[in-house]
Amino acid sequence: MNIFNLFKQKKSYSCKLLNNHLHFSSRNTLEPCCSANIGPALVSNLSNKDSILDFINQKKIIINQLKKGQIPRECQNCVHLSPYEKNKNFKIEKITLNHYTQCNCACIYCTQGNRDLEKIKEDEKKPVIYDVLKFINELYDNDLIDKEKLYIDFQGGNISCLKNHEEIINNFLKRGVGTIYIPTNNIIYMPIIEKLLQMKKGELCTALDSGTKETYLRIKQVDKFEKSIENIRQYINKAGNDSIIIKYIIVNGYNDNIDEFKKFMEIMINLNVKIIVIDIDYRDIIDKSFTIPKHYYEIVNFAKEQCKIHNIDLGIPPYTKSVLERGFSTK
Ligand SMILES: C[S@@+](CC[C@H](N)C(=O)[O-])C[C@H]1O[C@@H](n2cnc3c(N)ncnc32)[C@H](O)[C@@H]1O
Ligand code: SF4
Ligand code: SF4
Repeated sequence: MNIFNLFKQKKSYSCKLLNNHLHFSSRNTLEPCCSANIGPALVSNLSNKDSILDFINQKKIIINQLKKGQIPRECQNCVHLSPYEKNKNFKIEKITLNHYTQCNCACIYCTQGNRDLEKIKEDEKKPVIYDVLKFINELYDNDLIDKEKLYIDFQGGNISCLKNHEEIINNFLKRGVGTIYIPTNNIIYMPIIEKLLQMKKGELCTALDSGTKETYLRIKQVDKFEKSIENIRQYINKAGNDSIIIKYIIVNGYNDNIDEFKKFMEIMINLNVKIIVIDIDYRDIIDKSFTIPKHYYEIVNFAKEQCKIHNIDLGIPPYTKSVLERGFSTK
């Protein structure tokens, strides 16, 4: 075997997220990944830190480990791990803000674990575990951010419960940002979101998950179906429909029936929504062995047909798409 083939056989990895993303996690850590992964911590104990610049050294260590084929425990089996690619661009292109869990509803599927109304009320009163602003400004001050590409993803609990969200957003606008993505339960109308949409700097995503008030109440545990629809209507009136995404997460035993979805679809057409996303409850597609029931396909096929007729973009996240194609979840 020649030396070139030998080199090709050597396992060597890299991770795009490790190179260019930062995730302020609710575990009081700064991680390289998106909120769906528990990644290796670049900086721990953020609430006691004044600076995060050490993340650069930590990142170099993990990049080198992956290059040598040594995969840190947190990265094993991660979908973002890919064959090694030489990279000279380490500026931050995406920041996920997930440092708060406060919310004003209690979706029964919530990945943040906020599924109890009493816990939500207690949580709302608590301060966030650390503030991200000083860290974000430190990144700007040290020229570590790609200001044009920078994509901000507000994950967290719900943005309306993050007390200094306006200050954080205005700081990004002042210092340079590409797009600010705001997933929200949309219970409260937020002028700052309207402003971002009008400036073509924002994307709003809300999971309505239902076509009726009753189903909404069962899933979100608050009676805000009409309010959420009214808010969607107002954002579209004020800022157009090109960056408004409405999601339907199929939740087993709650909204997984075609009649509910038909009613949801009618509302979308009436509101002139142009982007719909269908997802499946992560608890089903990740946590346990789950065979996709036949009627899920009925919903997906109906959505495809209606979206085509009404010129609506239908998004299905890649992971969900592959589970739908395979017919069962991962394990
Ligand atoms: C934890 S939420 C935080 C943002 C905001 N409160 C919201 O719900 O849009 C982040 C995203 O994860 C999605 N999500 C949470 N739990 C999920 C689950 N079990 N299955 C699918 N999506 C889920 C939500 O719809 C939302 O788009
Ligand atoms: S491989 Fe996965 S867990 Fe590891 S840094 Fe990348 S995204 Fe995070
Ligand atoms: S609105 Fe978002 S954070 Fe709140 S309970 Fe629902 S999924 Fe969780």
